[in-house]
Amino acid sequence: MKYVMVYWSRYGHNKKIVNHLAEKLKEKNAETQILTTDEANPVALPEADVYVFSAAAEAFNLQRNMKTFMKNLEGMEGKKYGIINTHGMDKNRLQKMEKLLSKKNMVKLAETDFKVGKDIKSGNALIDGWETKLDAFAEKL
Ligand SMILES: Cc1cc2nc3c(=O)[nH]c(=O)nc-3n(C[C@H](O)[C@H](O)[C@H](O)COP(=O)(O)O)c2cc1C
Repeated sequence: MKYVMVYWSRYGHNKKIVNHLAEKLKEKNAETQILTTDEANPVALPEADVYVFSAAAEAFNLQRNMKTFMKNLEGMEGKKYGIINTHGMDKNRLQKMEKLLSKKNMVKLAETDFKVGKDIKSGNALIDGWETKLDAFAEKL
């Protein structure tokens, strides 16, 4: 299985999440490739069995770079995906991510979200137990 993961991260939380996820998937002998939204080309993503998108909630929406990236995706019809959203307030933005990807006729396998604590600038505000929650997400991909 090959997984391509695309993320955007201001303080490192989403980066930490995709790195952990990649390690977990590699334990199952999967091939993984991690790209930021700046590095990845939305009209020519590398071939994969499953795509993972991971980004924060910002300004009461999905973070802007990820939103634009998803809007610009092309050629993803029928491709499988998982989505991850981090958020400081109670509401997550998974629904927004799903809506954007359903417009591309992609097929959802799994979703998960992580609330971050107050000290977001530390890059260490993921709440205890996040690895266990992420491992459960990995099992569904
Ligand atoms: C400019 C800014 C705006 C934010 N707006 C929201 C918001 O509207 N809702 C929310 O739940 N969290 C908000 N947050 C918290 C982010 O979701 C949090 O910083 C992010 O999940 C951390 O992940 P990252 O380090 O990978 O960027 C905001 C953070 C910043 C810096």
